[in-house]
Amino acid sequence: MAQQEDVFKKLVSHCKEYGFVFPSSEIYDGLAAVYDYGQMGVELKNNLKKYWWDSMVLLHENVVGIDSAIFMHPTIWKASGHVDAFNDPLIDNKDSKKRYRADVLIEDQLAKYDDKINKEVEKAAKRFGEQFDETQFRATNPRVVENQAKRDALHTRFAQALNDSNLDELRQIILDEGIACPISGTRNWTDVRQFNLMFSTEMGSTSDGALKVYLRPETAQGIFVNYLNVQKTGRMKIPFGIAQIGKAFRNEIVARQFIFRMREFEQMEMQFFVRPGSELDWFAKWKEIRLKWHQALGLGQEKYRYHDHDKLAHYANAATDIEFLMPFGFKEVEGIHSRTDFDLSSHEQFSGKSIKYFDPELGESYTPYVIETSIGVDRMFLSVLAGSYREETLDSGETRVVLMLPPTLAPIKLAVLPLVKKDGLPEKARAILDDLKFEMKCQYDEKDSIGKRYRRQDAIGTPWCVTIDHQTLEDDTVTLRNRDTMEQERVAIGALRSFVQERVSMTALLKRI
Ligand code: GAP
Repeated sequence: MAQQEDVFKKLVSHCKEYGFVFPSSEIYDGLAAVYDYGQMGVELKNNLKKYWWDSMVLLHENVVGIDSAIFMHPTIWKASGHVDAFNDPLIDNKDSKKRYRADVLIEDQLAKYDDKINKEVEKAAKRFGEQFDETQFRATNPRVVENQAKRDALHTRFAQALNDSNLDELRQIILDEGIACPISGTRNWTDVRQFNLMFSTEMGSTSDGALKVYLRPETAQGIFVNYLNVQKTGRMKIPFGIAQIGKAFRNEIVARQFIFRMREFEQMEMQFFVRPGSELDWFAKWKEIRLKWHQALGLGQEKYRYHDHDKLAHYANAATDIEFLMPFGFKEVEGIHSRTDFDLSSHEQFSGKSIKYFDPELGESYTPYVIETSIGVDRMFLSVLAGSYREETLDSGETRVVLMLPPTLAPIKLAVLPLVKKDGLPEKARAILDDLKFEMKCQYDEKDSIGKRYRRQDAIGTPWCVTIDHQTLEDDTVTLRNRDTMEQERVAIGALRSFVQERVSMTALLKRI
């Protein structure tokens, strides 16, 4: 685990060093849990968004996109339940004065039991070698059985407390488990209190009574309040979906783990409107489609898992997360929720306007049910980087840091490198770049030795480099180097376009879903 934390720290500094992610307002010492994307980061982020957007609106005839405003009528947040129920349970340590999310403290405790169990299993696996029967070991080893029983009991109690929104019980669990503040090391805790996560501001001048508005905590509500506009103007028939990418804001108290939990972040959400009664079938379908979308990136099937929710949000009748194995454990990247007709019915009630759908096949009107897929761009970005980051020791004893990004997502697709800065090689290299730049993001680099330039491209995840040398001037061939294998081959300049395009094409990636 310590080793993994080390990797995570290195990844964070790598992001800064190579222009992927910078702390916001850095020259003013930063702003907690807010980050800026640099020149490489923005390319990767845009590629990710395109992958999501195309997978929704190109691959599904019945899914269309919108782009709604961040500011919305404040009653929307009353109707959606966010004013009353979008809270985190917080607890303070009286000695360190640090504030924590009570549920996160308990989740960390559950993870500690898992760690203890896994360590026992790993030790035994090493000791017994090929004869090791993990299932039997887990069922019979006294220490494993004891820790598993404690973990299960804690889990049941925790789930119950969350479902009942029982804040006293959450505090009692923290006390009973002997959970200490990581800063002060004491168990001197306050009561657990609810804290609303929405940011608010004022619209209009204060002299004429400004309106309190919220920065949206999810993009989904912009879809709900527009669903009938889209349905009517787009002549959509149920089932159909509306997709949106945009910023969301949450006043997260426990903001940590880099871009995993931010106060300003971006979501890619799709609401799929279905007939009442069919929602659980659609929920199962979207669960499958979304997992395939992640897996098509080729970062390793074993890095993903579903996590069904113990506590359903105030709007859901089924919910699951797709989790990715980050350097700090399996963590939620995407949520898939069956939101029932909660939001639409509520907007109907609060607005006083009918927003029912007339189903021509059934000849009746109803409020559609909704399946939502909701993924954070920033978390997805982090998962892709974490899944691609490698430190390798080469045969020469040298080390290299390489981002084995899926080629379609890589910020730069092709680096164009003249071997030396003279003899007409730079001019030849520029001509190649000028020819290819319309189709793919290329980078020209003539500074330093070729080895150093390869390392720089490895560090930003460029899948291919071409080197222009003296032979190029004679026969119009270049050396093409593969980032992952470091193998080099001689290819004709004329063959470059189709070679690279085939391998970085969004179409090829989309076909893998
Ligand atoms: N509309 C449903 C919704 O917003 P959510 O589970 O609260 O559901 C969906 O959020 C996704 O948004 C999460 O899976 C995560 O990827 C991303 N997300 C949520 N809070 C975030 C934060 N503070 N920082 C970065 N990403 C966040």
